[in-house]
Amino acid sequence: MRFMKSLPQLSSPTVDVLSCRDRRTFLTNTSMLAIGALLASACGNGIIGGGVTDVGTVGVTVKLSDYPALATVGGIARLNGTTTPIAVVREEAAVYRALSLVCPHQGTTVGINGTGFLCPNHEARFSGTGKWLGGQVTSSLHEFAVASNISAGTLSISN
Ligand code: FES
Repeated sequence: MRFMKSLPQLSSPTVDVLSCRDRRTFLTNTSMLAIGALLASACGNGIIGGGVTDVGTVGVTVKLSDYPALATVGGIARLNGTTTPIAVVREEAAVYRALSLVCPHQGTTVGINGTGFLCPNHEARFSGTGKWLGGQVTSSLHEFAVASNISAGTLSISN
């Protein structure tokens, strides 16, 4: 009888329920922190773009009729099927500009954003001429040479 009194009570059902709930909360919170840390590390450190800012060698001829956005002055279209992501801007009736969409900061593919461009990685902004307007980078988008053949309805784009 004396022995039984000296044994400590290790747990009660109430304590076990609370412990499980606390463990669940702890695991949920730490999992969310781990996911958040993973996303933060993938965003803004070049992982998205791979850090490659070289635009490579470009030599492509495109048909203007394949890009309805270029039917009007001010239109911007991303070209299909090029290894280097390229956008063409129609600046005037017969004047086109071809810009690399490789962000000069860490190589993320820049997206068309209204009349200009926006990098989704660190939010560098560029005008429709490719000029850097703000954000992480300090240089503009690479511009390619454009030879237009208006009667044939084609543009030839190269480095
Ligand atoms: S990769 Fe950093 S702003 Fe584009």
